[in-house]
Amino acid sequence: MQPVVLAGGSGSRLWPKSRVALPKQFLSLTSNNSMLQDTLTRLDGTKAASPIVICNDAHRFLVAEQLRQQDCQHGGIILEPVGRNTAPAIALAALHAMKSDPEAVLLVLAADHLIQDQNAFHAAIEKAYALALQGRLVTFGIVPDQPHTGYGYIKSGDALDTGFNVSEFVEKPDLATATEYVKSGQYFWNSGMFMFKAATYIAELAKFAPEILDVCEKAIATETPDLDFIRVDADIFSQSPDDSIDYAVMEKTELAAMVSLDAGWSDVGSWSSLWETAANKDENGNATVGDVLLTDVNNSYINAEERLVAAVGVDDLVIVETKDAVLVANKSKVQDIKTIVSQLKQQK
Ligand code: GDD
Ligand code: MG
Repeated sequence: MQPVVLAGGSGSRLWPKSRVALPKQFLSLTSNNSMLQDTLTRLDGTKAASPIVICNDAHRFLVAEQLRQQDCQHGGIILEPVGRNTAPAIALAALHAMKSDPEAVLLVLAADHLIQDQNAFHAAIEKAYALALQGRLVTFGIVPDQPHTGYGYIKSGDALDTGFNVSEFVEKPDLATATEYVKSGQYFWNSGMFMFKAATYIAELAKFAPEILDVCEKAIATETPDLDFIRVDADIFSQSPDDSIDYAVMEKTELAAMVSLDAGWSDVGSWSSLWETAANKDENGNATVGDVLLTDVNNSYINAEERLVAAVGVDDLVIVETKDAVLVANKSKVQDIKTIVSQLKQQK
């Protein structure tokens, strides 16, 4: 089993900690290690090969340094000259892996998830592996607890030996649809982790996104090792359409299968999810990091990096203080932080 860790996202909803130069997956948000490092150590105890990491060229030294800190043997760090989303990123990794092992089975992992129960995760990996060997594209499904519109939704079908057929995969439905799905009790969230033979993914890409495959085949033909890194031609790769595996393949394929995952999973997509998953809230439901003083404050997330942060008489707030920016947000509106990040980009 060949892990492929996707570490090329931008994590803009976790501004002001997550920045273009230092996105979420490289931050220590849920433990003392970075989310990328936790993703790698979470594989300890499985039969996984050394992971391939795929990330943007701009982050290559960050990735190499974070792997070095963990003494992590890796199977190569593939550099994308530009971000073209997950479908091309996984295609590059799949084509690269198939060069040395045409039968390679990939475990595709996001670099920015929290999984609290490692044993349950390992058990789900075993189940998914059995299905991947049968030529299925396996997803890991999470029982939803709210109609979140940032996720893919999976309708489970007939039972298989170690999972289920997927009868429908819908990426990021609107709120009304998501609400119906959750009410019906028949849908799972897509965790954004996948397992399949590299060759199965490539064959499905040939059917549903031939342009992406064409560009990635040409790009991987130019691959050049450079110390820890694997580079591909920038002019070629930048011609790839920008699309996610979810839209490009998972919504369309008939080979999708699902294994359910009950392992305390969170994609730590926003400050409110960090508040939700925080283990050490005070008696008023506040989660704090750093030097924080509170009086009559409830159900808030407060993270102080450089200075003392004090709050009085407020509820349901997110306050994140960094060296050069302070965020104050209503905890129910933290999805809109993306808008601030877009405004900042326009000002530049
Ligand atoms: N290498 C690389 N290149 N990695 C990327 C790129 C890219 O261009 N774009 C995103 N990633 C990485 C991110 O760092 C993250 O680890 C993972 O791929 C998923 O990308 P996101 O951008 O975070 O996707 P999403 O959260 O909108 O949606 C996906 O995850 C949800 C669960 O968290 C989908 O798979 C949804 O269906 C799923 O529910
Ligand atoms: Mg995500």
